[in-house]
Amino acid sequence: AGSGKFFVGGNWKCNGTKDSISKLVSDLNSATLESDVVSTSVLLIPVIQLLANISNVLPSTITDVVVAPPFVYIDQVKNSLTDRIEIAAQNCWTGKGGAFTGEISVEQLKDLGCKWVVLGHSERRHVIGEDDQFIGKKAAYALSEMLPQVGITSLLSYEPVWAIGTGKVASPEQAQEVHIAARDWLSKNVSAEVASKTRIIYGGSVNGGNCAELAKQEDIDGFLVGGASLKGPEFATIINSVT
Ligand code: G3P
Repeated sequence: AGSGKFFVGGNWKCNGTKDSISKLVSDLNSATLESDVVSTSVLLIPVIQLLANISNVLPSTITDVVVAPPFVYIDQVKNSLTDRIEIAAQNCWTGKGGAFTGEISVEQLKDLGCKWVVLGHSERRHVIGEDDQFIGKKAAYALSEMLPQVGITSLLSYEPVWAIGTGKVASPEQAQEVHIAARDWLSKNVSAEVASKTRIIYGGSVNGGNCAELAKQEDIDGFLVGGASLKGPEFATIINSVT
């Protein structure tokens, strides 16, 4: 983990039912997130000030935690999951809504309380056939609508396709090598500031057993977790990999 705030995302993909999601939410609500421990200075703030600055309590947590349910369960999750964990969508349309059968607009996601969206996942590229241009349009529109707040919450996820859902995780050294190369690319092609502020997270067979070693790498700023995010206690272990 580098200097930025650690990030753990759970990508639930096309999994779940109302019942299984209700159980997962209840496991997450009762999990102990060690990353919730706030610093002594916050605890010492007089009550009146603590209330006035209640929004400062959340930023003092060590890890940002976000889950991405299938669209149809976003409202259920938003209404039952602790506010400590934010909600992402797994996709969005390229612009404002209208006559686009089967699509979901950024405005609709915001209406449901989503602050994040996953775009350009390799499954959407390889299985659904999305290309760079189409994904670029979605990203530009989502950014313009401030779904992910640029510079504050935008992230890049590295997921080697051979590691997704296979149980074959990249070694910490392999992942670190790619993350630092991505950061160098950002620095040369965008700016040094963007390179240092962008959190680069790893995805691909992350689980409760391998997360701690991966999290120690300087340029691994978090995880995007698939299969293991469907198991509440194991996902909590991954959230707690940096404390
Ligand atoms: O987006 C995360 C994902 O593609 C990784 O999936 O199941 O290998 O953790 P999984």
